[in-house]
Amino acid sequence: MCGIIGYIGKRKAVPVLLNGLHRLEYRGYDSAGIAVIEPVGNKIVIEKQVGKIKDLQEKLWDKRIDGHVGIGHSRWATHGEPSIENAHPHISQNGKFAIVHNGIIENYLELKKELEEKGYKFVSKTDTEVIAHLFEELYSGNIVETAVEVAKRLKGAYAVGVISSEEPDKLVAIKQGSPLIVGLGKDENFIASDIPAVLEYTKDFIVLDDGEIAVLTKDEVHVLDINGKPKEKKVLHVDWDVSVAEKAGYKHFMQKEIFEQPRALSDTIAGFNSNLNEELLNTLSNADRIYIIACGTSYHAGLVGKFWIEKFAKVPVEVDYASEFRYRDKVLTDKTVVFGISQSGETADTRFALLDAKKEGAKTVALVNVVGSSLSRESDHTLFTYSGPEIGVAATKTFTSQLAVLYLLALNLGKFRNIIDNRLFENLYESLLKVPSAIEEILKSDEKIKDIAYKYINAKDFLFLGRNINYPIALEGALKLKEISYIHAEGYPAGEMKHGPIALIDENLPVAVLAPIDKFYEKILSNIQEVKARKGKVISITTEGNKEIEKFSEDTIYIPKVEDVLYPFLTVIPLQLLSYHIATFLGKDVDQPRNLAKTVTVE
Ligand code: F6R
Repeated sequence: MCGIIGYIGKRKAVPVLLNGLHRLEYRGYDSAGIAVIEPVGNKIVIEKQVGKIKDLQEKLWDKRIDGHVGIGHSRWATHGEPSIENAHPHISQNGKFAIVHNGIIENYLELKKELEEKGYKFVSKTDTEVIAHLFEELYSGNIVETAVEVAKRLKGAYAVGVISSEEPDKLVAIKQGSPLIVGLGKDENFIASDIPAVLEYTKDFIVLDDGEIAVLTKDEVHVLDINGKPKEKKVLHVDWDVSVAEKAGYKHFMQKEIFEQPRALSDTIAGFNSNLNEELLNTLSNADRIYIIACGTSYHAGLVGKFWIEKFAKVPVEVDYASEFRYRDKVLTDKTVVFGISQSGETADTRFALLDAKKEGAKTVALVNVVGSSLSRESDHTLFTYSGPEIGVAATKTFTSQLAVLYLLALNLGKFRNIIDNRLFENLYESLLKVPSAIEEILKSDEKIKDIAYKYINAKDFLFLGRNINYPIALEGALKLKEISYIHAEGYPAGEMKHGPIALIDENLPVAVLAPIDKFYEKILSNIQEVKARKGKVISITTEGNKEIEKFSEDTIYIPKVEDVLYPFLTVIPLQLLSYHIATFLGKDVDQPRNLAKTVTVE
């Protein structure tokens, strides 16, 4: 969480920093700030504002800041409430070092005590401020050497950017645990928490690894290890267009990303084979068990993946929340595969659970969207979704892309293990190729779904029901609605409703039911009748042509017919749109819902 950016080069720093912060705002939006070294007198100027980047931008409107070296930050509060004092950048007592930081300094209380005893006065409640004072305390006349010493004192996960009026031609960054990239330009260089933040200026990047320090001047970038020894780094070239980080005519990123799903899915299907190899198939084939671990929406993708892997490849799969998996006494062997799913590839719960499992001898596989992310570098094998950057905090296109990878993996593993033959493989593969256009069809119902959404804006609670492979989609529908509209929602297996949740049903409760015509249809129709008999408002999502269901439903949304196993790709789309429209009718900030952040790098 928190976004950091830094610039050194030919341009004025402020517009570059603000621009980058706008693109990083999804990582946190409690407060924002910048620090720039003014060319005259090399003084560090700091401006901060509680709230969003636009509030900071307004504050800067009539200020003149000419410097060409600066750092910026958008905050997701951990230590200390959102306030000007707690907003970054933080400055050392002598005003000569400014710091931005993403992560948590675990030993900050100890460091704070030590610095206070030396006479340092703290003005914020953050863990970050210790870093600024440490730079002042340990400064040896060389900021790079000092960064090495500072890094040795810090414990925890952090990405830090620092500038100093003592050495105004340098920007230094330290990376340990939290993500950090260096953007390489001509007569200018950048640091940022992610690639889209500076995509407008460069397409060449260095992805920093843990324990690395980057030293940027206008013309050069050097990467050092934690002991200050130079390191060779590969340059990563991305061919993303800058428009991936813009709304392109849509009202919100979330809306754009929902509509991008056919494209994201086709790209992911096309890219799948490039990351598949025999070694991975062997590892999975010999697994005594696969543990899929993930959080939030990625966890729901994992639940669907379990159905496919067990059905097509007959390898046992367990799915667990990463935060639970990490701390429970599970049975891992050298044949166990721990399979982490994470859009960002930076989620602390997932990363650390996977790293622990690796230490305990398990094999690890990651499925990520963000190129160069920590999880992708720390796992034995990595698979990618090719969704492009997802900016809206609520995951949408990356979810359906994760499903595509899991489905293709299950099919390939099934074929590899001779559970499915070539013909069945081809049929199932061909069926997947039809999914992007089926999603296009559903997206045409957007206006209708918007009308349905309007009817339910005053609901206090929502229930989502699904069976079998669509049950995880009920969970996902509930998560989408609660995170962006703040309406309480629950997802439930439809057959389980009668064991408790049925008591909630009355004429005020909307119940969205995933009822495609598959082998569970008759059973779910009975569940719909049970809801109806108790006056609940049924919103059915069913296969086109099914008129019967309208008798029992307040509203019916149709999806095209596909193979039964593929319905999760389709049933989720109306639920994404329903949540999106309810939240926008309620005037909520769907791209940046309260209290959330896109990348959760704290446990
Ligand atoms: C929901 C959402 C979150 C994430 C979760 C995991 O819309 O976005 O629940 O799915 O924080 O994030 P990743 O996939 O980046 O590990």
